[in-house]
Amino acid sequence: MGLVNFLTAIDLIVHSPLATMEPIQLFDPASSTYTYILFDPDSRDAVIIDPVDDQLQRDLDVLQANGLRLLWSIETHAHADHVTSAGRLVEHTGARSAAPQGCGIGTAAMQLQHGDELQFGAQTLRALHTPGHTAGSMSFVWRNHVFTGDTLLIDGCGRTDFQSGSARDLYRSLTQVLFALPDETIVWPGHDYRGRQHSTIGQERQHNARVAGRSEAEFVALMDSLNLPRPRRMDEAVPANLSSGLRHDAGGDALLAPRPPEGANAGTYAGDVPAELAWQWVQEDRSVLVDVRTDAEREWVGFVPGAVPVAWKQWPGMAPNPDFDAQVRAAAEGGKSLVLLCRSGVRSIAAAQRATALGLTAYNILEGFEGDPDEQAHRGVKGGWRKRGLPWRQK
Ligand SMILES: [Fe+2]
Repeated sequence: MGLVNFLTAIDLIVHSPLATMEPIQLFDPASSTYTYILFDPDSRDAVIIDPVDDQLQRDLDVLQANGLRLLWSIETHAHADHVTSAGRLVEHTGARSAAPQGCGIGTAAMQLQHGDELQFGAQTLRALHTPGHTAGSMSFVWRNHVFTGDTLLIDGCGRTDFQSGSARDLYRSLTQVLFALPDETIVWPGHDYRGRQHSTIGQERQHNARVAGRSEAEFVALMDSLNLPRPRRMDEAVPANLSSGLRHDAGGDALLAPRPPEGANAGTYAGDVPAELAWQWVQEDRSVLVDVRTDAEREWVGFVPGAVPVAWKQWPGMAPNPDFDAQVRAAAEGGKSLVLLCRSGVRSIAAAQRATALGLTAYNILEGFEGDPDEQAHRGVKGGWRKRGLPWRQK
């Protein structure tokens, strides 16, 4: 290689966007939370890490201004200090949500395990299980960057005194997982309360005030002695974040009791129940949730984890399912009542009536999965399981 060619090659390395690729770092002043947008410069495919509910419009604007297509909304953990916008981002952008498997965020489409990789364009984001702040917490590695959530902060670390936290686990996550990354890896924390933006693994390994130079026992003793106040929004934030920030806005009276069927339907099935009550019964193990929609609807629109699929009718042609009786009897084994879910609460009445005729106790879930269509014939906006923020996923 001649000298000129050699210099050109060097110049390309130094100035190519790949050599300087950095995340877009965004800040929520109310919670001191950092949100990150990473993107592939060629395809413009993007991911967002730890988006905040109050900043939804800002994040949508940043995506649009940069011509980015959001593929994934990713959580480092179930936050206690702010509510995620993941659920609403997914609705606005068509992105999918991903969360650590151990965090109990049942609404996330992808439940991440250690080592899982998310692709966006030619880029890869790798998940590292870094428990301690919470049992499910993860960090994410992209190129020479690591996004550490509340596991590793600049000159600090996340607390370990609630939400399944463990100082012992955190010590191991810090010293054995994160500090095993190359020293020059850039650390992008989930918070900073003093305006610092990033650090490096080498800096934190050598100087982090909580962990550098401390044995595991010393670190545990330090963490146990912190006596931190409860986060201001904890009681609101944690439950909301377990459903990707889609709030459980059930009216109190809606939860009181099932309603007997009226008019021509009187006496033909056990009754109508709001989605929240149906879900409560399922969690109390009193009822089995039966999804009577078609396979195609569950595949394409979304499904409720743990629901038993017993189609009332099937594509093509919406022909009656010949195995309905046998399948719905099997679902009710053990004598539990059934709560039946369809798209908008019509098919599930017919199915509940049939199940009742078979001698089972069957309730219709009001509004179905998607609710009735609005004036624009759009579903999912006027109520329904999904709109009410109950757990569901998409394949
Ligand atoms: Fe946290």
